[in-house]
Amino acid sequence: MYFFTVLSCPAYTTIMPSLSSSSSSCSTCTFLLSFLFALTASNCAAREISSTSSPRQLSVDYYAKTCPQLEQLVGSVTSQQFKEAPVSGPATIRLLFHDCFVQGCDASILISTTPGSEVLAEKDAEDNQDLRVEGFQTISKAKALVESKCPGVVSSADILAIAARDYVHLAGGPYYQVKKGRWDGKISMASRVPYNIPRANFTVDQQLKLFNSKGLTLEDLVVLSGAHTFGFAHCKQFVSRLYNYRGSKQPDPDMDPRLLKALRMSCPQFGGNSDTVAPFDVTTPFVFDHAYYGNLEAKLGLLASDQALFLDPRTKPLVLQLGTDKHKFFQAFAAAMEKMGSIGVERGT
Ligand code: HEM
Repeated sequence: MYFFTVLSCPAYTTIMPSLSSSSSSCSTCTFLLSFLFALTASNCAAREISSTSSPRQLSVDYYAKTCPQLEQLVGSVTSQQFKEAPVSGPATIRLLFHDCFVQGCDASILISTTPGSEVLAEKDAEDNQDLRVEGFQTISKAKALVESKCPGVVSSADILAIAARDYVHLAGGPYYQVKKGRWDGKISMASRVPYNIPRANFTVDQQLKLFNSKGLTLEDLVVLSGAHTFGFAHCKQFVSRLYNYRGSKQPDPDMDPRLLKALRMSCPQFGGNSDTVAPFDVTTPFVFDHAYYGNLEAKLGLLASDQALFLDPRTKPLVLQLGTDKHKFFQAFAAAMEKMGSIGVERGT
């Protein structure tokens, strides 16, 4: 069993300098709203999303003429970063999820709070405090490289979607084509985060309601949760399951006693190290496989929201199926990532 302690705190406010520096290349973009935050889309693509405008389609060959080497450029960054820091994989996939669920896939998660402003950007919201710095670093590096070869063309939102796909594949998961053509947003507000990001203690009903509100189905919920086949969670996300589950003063009966014992050693009820994390998948924490589903069946789910997918009769059959069929999971995951990666991007003006 592996346990990891994160010793350094990520510096969330100091990242992404290259993103805001691209503003000079964007002559027609104006920044009128001083209380908002300027992440300029380098292709002048920073637009506000409007619900009244015409449909917008993404396409695999969106940059075929303007930046044909885009995928190789991003790939050179992700493969290097994956070698140096494999946690960049789960970090970036979670970053995409948190971007897409709040105001659509518009890279608004990357925008920094304007110094001195009282209005916080998304990344400074409570629910985003544990997003790892390695995810932000990946996009920052990739954006800088892409800008050097294809100045003023590619949106950060597209780079994030490509990088997430790269990491899924590098970690052993499926390779899938990424459709592109997202526009970067220029509005980012922490106040929009809390009701758009699911919590570790959410019931299936609560998770489903949120996913449905994004145009995602019950199947998408189960399949996308499979991303918890790699990566880590902090003790605070599951500690109540270890000591006082839903106010019972008892541990969660749906956690395997050996996992319970091991997690208790790392995560005391009081006074533990707030940086301590545990792997979602105790056997292969850096591999993108379908072990997540088998773990749920074996009561080895880390979060209550994960284990709930096995306990609920609506989701259990799919959990069982995906646990025995890696090919089906990989196919379904690729399709669900395309759906998630399209949230909110089809209605731009
Ligand atoms: C369905 C409801 C979901 C809930 C309640 C949830 C909740 C969480 C929580 C609490 C963490 C641990 C954060 C920490 O302590 O650092 C986490 C990590 C993670 N989540 Fe989710 N999540 C959900 C769905 C998703 C989806 C849809 C994806 C992507 C497709 C995703 C990808 C990840 C990844 C990869 C990590 C590990 C991050 C890392 O190690 O840096 N999650 N999630």
